[in-house]
This record gives sequence, C-alpha cells and structure tokens, in this order.
Amino acid sequence: MYTQPATAADRKPWTVPMLAQAKREGRKLAMLTAYDAGFARTMDAAGIDLVLVGDSLGMVMQGHDSTLPVTVDDIVYHTACVARGLSTALLLSDLPFQADASPQRALDAATRCLQVGAGMAKIEGAGHKLEVIRYLVEREIPVCAHLGLTPQSVLRLGGYKVQGRDERAAAQLMEDARAVQDAGASMLVLECVPTPVAASITAALAIPTIGIGAGPQCDGQVLVLHDVLGLDGGHRRPKFVKDFLAEGGSVDGAFRAYADAVRSGAFPDESHSYA
Ligand code: KIV
Repeated sequence: MYTQPATAADRKPWTVPMLAQAKREGRKLAMLTAYDAGFARTMDAAGIDLVLVGDSLGMVMQGHDSTLPVTVDDIVYHTACVARGLSTALLLSDLPFQADASPQRALDAATRCLQVGAGMAKIEGAGHKLEVIRYLVEREIPVCAHLGLTPQSVLRLGGYKVQGRDERAAAQLMEDARAVQDAGASMLVLECVPTPVAASITAALAIPTIGIGAGPQCDGQVLVLHDVLGLDGGHRRPKFVKDFLAEGGSVDGAFRAYADAVRSGAFPDESHSYA
C-alpha cells in the first residue's frame, strides 16, 4: 500500500492521479481548509494531504454569514498566499458564488487560481454544472465536485441542512455523484449527507469522496481550519466538527492528530455523523 512517509523531506508532492490511486489502495485522505501561508506551511509539515482555499473564507475570515459575498479576487489572493506555504499538499481553490455560472466564467476563474498555484478547482452542484465540469476538464483543469449541502445554495435550501435524507433525495444524490464523475471530476466532496448514503456513493465511484458530516466511510475527510482548532468562526458549530487542538496540544499537534485520526478511521465517529 502506498503511504506518504512521516517526514516532510521524504514526501512526494501530491498529484491529481495519486488521488484515485490512494482510493484504490484504501489510503484515507486528510484535507483541511487554509487561507494563509503560515497555517498552510504548518499543515504541509504535519502531513495534511490536501489543502482547500474554501469560500468558507467569507464566513471565517471576512465575518459574513454566508459564502455568497466571496469574489474570485478573494479566492485568487488567498490561493496565492496558501500556495507559498505548501510543498507537498495538493492545493484546491473553490470557485465562489456565480464564478461557475457559465463554462467561460468558470474557465477564467479557475485559470487564475491555477496560475497562482492551485492544482484543482472545486465546483458546487450538478445539473448545469456538469457542462462546466466537462468544459474545464477538457481544458486541462482538474475539478473536484461538491454535492450534498452546497453552501452556495443556502437561499434555495433555506438554511444549512442535512441533504439526502429521504429515498428520493438519496437516489438523486447518487445520480448526481455518478454524473459528476462521468463529467470528469477527479474527486467529490460530500457535505452533510447521512452515513449510509455517503457510504453507497463512495462504493459506487472510482474517484475519492471527501466527507464533511458524511460519516466515516468516505475516502477522506475535510474540516474548516477554525473548526479543527476549536475556534469560534462566527457561525454555529455543527455536530460534525471536532476540536483537535484539545488533544493535539499545539496547532501543529492538532493537524497531526487530525491526519492520524482520519487515516486510522477514528474520525469521524457516530457522534460526528448523521444516521
Ligand atoms: O468552503 C469550504 O471551506 C468548503 C469545505 C467546507 C468543503 O467547501
């Protein structure tokens, strides 16, 4: 089984093809969000595999109550900062609200992210986004899809709620998951999805799933920086977050404890998941 060595100097930089390889080999992926070079450097040294410049920055960095005000300029600025702190982790950038409303807009935004160091663009939703995903992938831009609770849909959803709870919604999620894979996505974030639904999707796909509130059977996990450090990010703390600073004893220790818990399967447990 391929495992990254513990010391940073011996680690190979993550590439997109290594993600599917990790899934095939049953190696769980540890992902966190970051917004600056300092935290990114500490995550990289701690062995975090994937770092996301999430549009969560609108809430935890800028103090908004949703991700909707985040702009492409914001994401590009923070992507450039985070890129300077990474040497082995793969960097993903979120395409913010409406930056992926058309294939050409998405291409423009994603190109800017890749030109400052991102290795992948993340896109929320399926539906008309399938065309966007296909368009980017055909133009050499690797894409991570994001389904379940998609925070950019907060107005339509009427809040931040668990998705895929009834049979019809679960079937739609499965259909969307297969469709984003077929459109060329290399990875899929599943947010706030019942554990059995996320487990079935994970089993059905060849690309890795990264869960956040989606149970332990996903191929990896992601948490927001502020949540993994137990900070008050200015939003209600959902049940899927865990303060790893408490057990890690330092910021570096928290990132290492999180990575270890993801890889061993100790996090998330039932108390961080939806039945
Ligand atoms: O914006 C973000 O930080 C995200 C993660 C929570 C997956 O999309």
